[in-house]
Amino acid sequence: MYVVKSPLSDTDLRTVSEALQGALVDLVDLSLVAKQVHWNVVGPRFRSVHLQLDEVVDVARTHSDTVAERASALGVSPDGRASTVAAGSGISPVPAGWVKDSDAVGALVAALGAVITRMRERVAATGDPDPVSQDIFIGITADLEKHHWMFQAENA
Ligand SMILES: [Fe+2]
Repeated sequence: MYVVKSPLSDTDLRTVSEALQGALVDLVDLSLVAKQVHWNVVGPRFRSVHLQLDEVVDVARTHSDTVAERASALGVSPDGRASTVAAGSGISPVPAGWVKDSDAVGALVAALGAVITRMRERVAATGDPDPVSQDIFIGITADLEKHHWMFQAENA
């Protein structure tokens, strides 16, 4: 169904909408993984890791809304359904149950690293077709790389 007219050509829109949809899926899953670990972390560093994880949840939720609404603004329907997220996320599933604090940090280093790799690919892919979306991906990558740094420093 055609609702919102896109300012982009069909070819550019295809590239950019794939990037936005992929980012949406990764960020929704990142928020879910960070909450899962937030609830299940145990160990002497419980409090700092528990609180740090909610900062990641906030970042992931804020940016997921930004990329979804950017898709809408370009005339592409965003898909944040659970089944779509489960099928398309670049983050490996975390095991069920309690998570030792050092393993929790390791899980976030891995999850953020996976999302950052894909986000940088989106930065590269969207510069020409749509620098406005690219700017969003750049901002997201900067925030994710900040948290990636902090979690790596936690386990150093
Ligand atoms: Fe909480």
